[in-house]
Amino acid sequence: MSPLIQGVSADRIAEVAAHAATAYRAARPRSAAAHWADAWLGGVPMHWMKDWPQPFPMLVARAKGAWLEDIDGNRLDDFCLGDTGSMFGHSPAPVARALRAQAGRGLTYMLPTEDVLAVGALLCQRFGDFRWQIATTATDANRFALRVARAVTGRAKVLVFNGCYHGTVDDAMVRLRAGQTEARPGLVGQVADLTKTAVAVEFNDLAAVERALAAGDVAAVLCEPVLTNSCMVLPEPGFHAGLRALTRRYGSLLIIDETHTISTGLGGYTRTHGLEPDAFVLGKCVAGGLPAAVWGLAPELAARFAAYDATRPTGHSGMGTTLSANPLQFAALRATLAEVMTPANYARMEAGAARLEAGLSRAIAAQGAPWHVVRVGARVEFICAPGPLHNGAEAEAAHAPALEAAIHASLLNRGCLIAPFHNMMLVSPATTRRQIDRLIAAFTSTLVALFN
Ligand SMILES: Cc1ncc(COP(=O)(O)O)c(C=O)c1O
Repeated sequence: MSPLIQGVSADRIAEVAAHAATAYRAARPRSAAAHWADAWLGGVPMHWMKDWPQPFPMLVARAKGAWLEDIDGNRLDDFCLGDTGSMFGHSPAPVARALRAQAGRGLTYMLPTEDVLAVGALLCQRFGDFRWQIATTATDANRFALRVARAVTGRAKVLVFNGCYHGTVDDAMVRLRAGQTEARPGLVGQVADLTKTAVAVEFNDLAAVERALAAGDVAAVLCEPVLTNSCMVLPEPGFHAGLRALTRRYGSLLIIDETHTISTGLGGYTRTHGLEPDAFVLGKCVAGGLPAAVWGLAPELAARFAAYDATRPTGHSGMGTTLSANPLQFAALRATLAEVMTPANYARMEAGAARLEAGLSRAIAAQGAPWHVVRVGARVEFICAPGPLHNGAEAEAAHAPALEAAIHASLLNRGCLIAPFHNMMLVSPATTRRQIDRLIAAFTSTLVALFN
């Protein structure tokens, strides 16, 4: 008898995966024939394009709202939504209009436009009283916020949670093994000793946070409100209040990275749950899918930074990139913040995601699978292990790559695209009930195929 993986026989997983791969190839002769120009390092222009479980990537012809169509004419319900970049749907009409208007007026000139005035006010209105800067990626925004934290505290280290991801921020590429912080395996060309500048502890473990902060060398805790980049882990009651109290007690700053948890609701997890970060970071969907990110400092930290800035030697700050804060970004930011990131859209997303959560949970219960579903606003994830999970180590153990790949491939052949990383699904304002019900039906059939 073949071994069981999270309740499913390994043979059955292999059968489902093989069937899905065959069907995928058959439906995509043009994408298959297009493979692959030698021009790209590793065969694709961005290595993540190979992280999908399909035999080869499909070439996309177009996407709109909550669907996406490949060059073979396969139309998919898109629940991946660019891994949050298009969380509000593909090409939201106000953003597309604003981009068209700005496209004829210049794309980048290193000077502000009138949109800057509106966007500053909108950022404060949506996310709170912060002093903002614009970056092009959330990775950069995190990096710059961290520079500020190190500058004003004069401390070297960042505290991150085991299993986190904050973009390709070098210092955050550590993990916890046998109680020790170590560099993650697989980092390309990393020559720095990351343990000198980072410490990792488990999420939801305030005692470990306190032990790390008590050393007095932590400039900032860099933290997602919910651990989203492993199997999703929710904060336990009191965790965020405790974290805030400890960071204040030991003089460390708190940087909250909302890049994924912006799914929670208007103003992200921070606003919805009354967190009080010193720095607030948001990327991906903040400009409706155009590359842009924002980072903001609470007034007190902004004042500390201004004092530091006034005394530092002149020269490069180590922050900023040439094309950041360009007028195209501002046009997209303004349209997104004013017309897309609205209470009405969040209400639709929340209702749709609750429907999806309930449907997936029913399918899991019907098979008696030892799995669970977790949701943070518009973000839903099924996890092929019992829940709730408490920390990164448990999340890592819950991850079942072969099983998950088979499920993703099976869903795709039933017309539903979910994120290749984890088992994540987003519900946009454009996502219809029919699309949600189709995904529930596809998931149900997939579980029937796996368990019976
Ligand atoms: C929480 C979080 N922060 C930051 C990032 C980095 O975003 P980007 O790749 O756009 O720089 C990611 C990417 O997945 C993320 O999940």
